[in-house]
Amino acid sequence: MELIRELIPLQSAVQAWRRRNQCIALVPTMGNLHEGHLSLVREAKRIAERVVVSLFVNPLQFGPAEDFSAYPRTLAADREVLITEGVDLLFAPAVQTLYPNGQAEQTLVVVPPSLSEILCGASRPGHFTGVATVVCKLFHLVQPDIALFGEKDFQQLLVIRRMVADLNLPVIIQGMPTVREPDGLALSSRNAYLTEAERAIAPELYRTLLRSIDRFQQGDSLPSVERKALAELEALGFQPDYVQIRRQQDLGRPKPDDNALIILGAARLGKARLIDNQCFLRAE
Ligand code: PAF
Repeated sequence: MELIRELIPLQSAVQAWRRRNQCIALVPTMGNLHEGHLSLVREAKRIAERVVVSLFVNPLQFGPAEDFSAYPRTLAADREVLITEGVDLLFAPAVQTLYPNGQAEQTLVVVPPSLSEILCGASRPGHFTGVATVVCKLFHLVQPDIALFGEKDFQQLLVIRRMVADLNLPVIIQGMPTVREPDGLALSSRNAYLTEAERAIAPELYRTLLRSIDRFQQGDSLPSVERKALAELEALGFQPDYVQIRRQQDLGRPKPDDNALIILGAARLGKARLIDNQCFLRAE
């Protein structure tokens, strides 16, 4: 596996593959790889001839009070894992390489606020602009035929799909199911911030979402379901940000005839901000 940090060697490697008409898959990551990332890598290996993993802790998507400096950086271990998985190329640029004019001078990709400023976008202003901008740059640099993203970050997945559609980018976006611990906790690099006591409580976020779906299916109103979920999370020791039921297709508020729904939740537990979701079909 090649480890490339600069743009020109990356573009040369990719162009050589494109000249041979090889199908390229990209798995964008911020590193500190876990089984969730590896499920994307394995699917990429299955469907494409060449697999590129990018590893970049993107400062543009972190707010000033967020965990950019604390975010776990484990390049050496990640590299070993990706070699074992048979990845062709690991692209791990420095911040200066992707943002040579500085972040403030970077041209931005702004997805409409109806999608990017709700839910996580409401409590993390500018977050999805940072994500869309870096992913757009990666698409231009790597020119993948297909790119894979986890459904745990469901809003991120829709933001990227929307960017690709609106900018007519020639990339297929494939979402992949959330990978969970045996007790239901969704895998996330931020789980590392949890103390032992917090780790024991953390799966309650997902359980609360599942309980809320049951209540909704049994006829409880949307505001009542959401209120109860927030109260339960608070009682368990979380600082909940939101629990909301939305339409799967665009995260709009569900109308009575929308059947494909999703419940999404975000809550702080100690130093970690956890997010999770579950798609479901409205009961007849
Ligand atoms: O999901 C992530 O790890 C990041 O948001 C991504 C997509 C790699 C962009 O920095």
